[in-house]
Amino acid sequence: MPKKIILTGDRPTGPLHLGHYVGSLLNRVRLQDEYDQYIMLADLQALTDNFANSKQVHDNVFQVMLDYLAVGIDPDKSTFLIQSMIPQIPELTTYYMNLVSLNRVVRNPTVKTEIKQKKFGESVPLGFVTYPVSQAADISIFKASLVPVGEDQLPMIEQTNEVVRAFNRIYNCDVLIEAEALIPKVSRLVGTDGKAKMSKSLGNAIYLSDSADDIKKKVMSMFTDPDHVRVEDPGKIEGNTVFMYLDVFDTDTEEVARLKEHYQKGGLGDVVLKKRLVEVLENLIGPIRERRENFAKDPEQVRKILQQGTQKAEAVAAQTLQEVKQAMGLIYF
Ligand code: TRP
Repeated sequence: MPKKIILTGDRPTGPLHLGHYVGSLLNRVRLQDEYDQYIMLADLQALTDNFANSKQVHDNVFQVMLDYLAVGIDPDKSTFLIQSMIPQIPELTTYYMNLVSLNRVVRNPTVKTEIKQKKFGESVPLGFVTYPVSQAADISIFKASLVPVGEDQLPMIEQTNEVVRAFNRIYNCDVLIEAEALIPKVSRLVGTDGKAKMSKSLGNAIYLSDSADDIKKKVMSMFTDPDHVRVEDPGKIEGNTVFMYLDVFDTDTEEVARLKEHYQKGGLGDVVLKKRLVEVLENLIGPIRERRENFAKDPEQVRKILQQGTQKAEAVAAQTLQEVKQAMGLIYF
């Protein structure tokens, strides 16, 4: 039996952070033995809101690639590909454009939220509004059945499956298959400001490439309980960013439970907690940072991994596109 296929990826708009780590990277590392995994550096999608920064997007492809390798996604097990180097994806997107209504794309909840956040005003790029259609092509051209992503991507998978069903029905075939999103239990990591989701644009992220000093500074300035002024005062756990992070990253759950009790009773200072979190995060990120630096020393090797992966992926995409055109009756010679 051939292995089932995973297609997943990220927009290369900056290096990856802890939100990506808990939201999808861990699942990708875990599943790469069991599945035939394709990981897309979605530079075309990144351009939909970064069209003027195309050179930065290009450079970020390598930065994100270093993050993937550093967390342990193994090029011998997973296939890395650059979206813009696979012309079959935009071609398939063109066919899909006719299967989705304008009303449907503007109703996509993730796109709606992003449009607000990005402050496009009256000038929302058409490419941005329609990126879910392009993402449907990303996923279905590889016949992926599983997509490990963060929960904000659920509406994209839903839309992908609508396109897949419409295509198979209209062209009376079973060329395309539906996909399922794989969302981890903790999929939404709050930013260091404790307010919103961790993201580069909100300036509240801890990066997998951060130095020990960066980590320390970011943790030391985290919000705890604003009413916890003196060490003796009882403190609150709810909404306390440091405890939220300890819950996610500290593997000694018994000790965390003890600390919570102590904090609520009073007598436990914020600095003690923060120092613990600095240590926990440094233990996690330190080895990742070191592997990242090693891969960064050999850019030629990284380029080769990307090139070989992209070539392999293109062959798969070309095969599906051929089947798609056959089903549509678009083969002329
Ligand atoms: N939309 C994803 C993000 O914003 C990136 C992405 C592009 C993707 N194509 C994909 C994710 C296909 C999963 C599958 O991070």
